[in-house]
Amino acid sequence: MNKVILFGATGKLGTKIAIKLREKNYDVTAVVRNRSKADQLKQYVNNAIIADVTDVDAIKDICKGFDIVISSLGKSVSLNDKSKPGFKDIDLDANTAILKEAKAASVKKFIYVSAHGAEKNLHLTYFKTHHYFSQYVKRSGIDFTIIKPPAIMSSFIDLIEMAKKGRMITIGKGDKLTNPIYEGDLAEICVDSITAKNAKDAELDIGGKTLYTRRQINEIIQHHVDASKKTRTIPMWLMKFGIPFIKVFDKNTYDKMAFFLEVIQRDTVAPKLGQTTLEEYLGKKLYLN
Ligand SMILES: NC(=O)c1ccc[n+]([C@@H]2O[C@H](COP(=O)([O-])OP(=O)(O)OC[C@H]3O[C@@H](n4cnc5c(N)ncnc54)[C@H](OP(=O)(O)O)[C@@H]3O)[C@@H](O)[C@H]2O)c1
Repeated sequence: MNKVILFGATGKLGTKIAIKLREKNYDVTAVVRNRSKADQLKQYVNNAIIADVTDVDAIKDICKGFDIVISSLGKSVSLNDKSKPGFKDIDLDANTAILKEAKAASVKKFIYVSAHGAEKNLHLTYFKTHHYFSQYVKRSGIDFTIIKPPAIMSSFIDLIEMAKKGRMITIGKGDKLTNPIYEGDLAEICVDSITAKNAKDAELDIGGKTLYTRRQINEIIQHHVDASKKTRTIPMWLMKFGIPFIKVFDKNTYDKMAFFLEVIQRDTVAPKLGQTTLEEYLGKKLYLN
């Protein structure tokens, strides 16, 4: 059982999963959007299939001949991503079409990267789509592992850019806790879940080893990038007041902002399995790899 088809392979987490799979001698096929994406990955994968995952005809029979499907496919949460499809199109509909293909091909294992706490936040599109798809995976009859991280450190790349420009802001008190995980650590756990006994038909919440408040995260990043610049604070009420207006003009941006506002207003802490701290991530510039 070693033929893996990987969706989301060009993503921050997906690339690390591809690397770990190759290190462990799996035969890896990545599904990518276009030729240039395939070229970016060629050192890490055995094959690439170019297909539009939002087109059910384009992915017909795509899982045939594979033992394992891994999906870290998902709409980017970065505000710099301006692509048209929303969370429902990618995280739910495209993944559901992939799951259908996996069933038709009788794959032996389906690994999906969801989000910690998704089931508790069904009023938000981001979490609802992750949770609904997880439910479909659980009911599919395929042996599954659902991985549920809190923040992945790569999502702080936007904060690094803000810090460089002296535009780092903390919203509200910034006193809620989280334990972000390095994407390399998470990828290792995803790959290990192919064979790990505790990962069979399991949902695994997986965070990093260190707890930080949101304000600490911002200050650590600012200090790393340019300690001479100060971070600023925006009152929570102002963000809450402004966000409904965004919904009128740009639903995708609203969904991302609503997601951010939700996660910074509550502790988001998962079991501490990742080994890399934020300070190490920044110090070793792991975000550049
Ligand atoms: N980042 C976090 O803090 C965090 C926390 C918890 C859970 N998660 C979940 O973990 C998963 C992986 O996250 P990540 O940080 O690796 O995400 P990412 O870097 O944004 O990668 C997402 C992947 O999905 C693909 N994709 C997105 N839209 C697509 C479209 N319209 N058509 C085809 N492919 C598309 C991307 O392809 P392209 O490279 O071609 O764009 C990329 O391969 C996601 O489901 C995410 O929601 C993330």
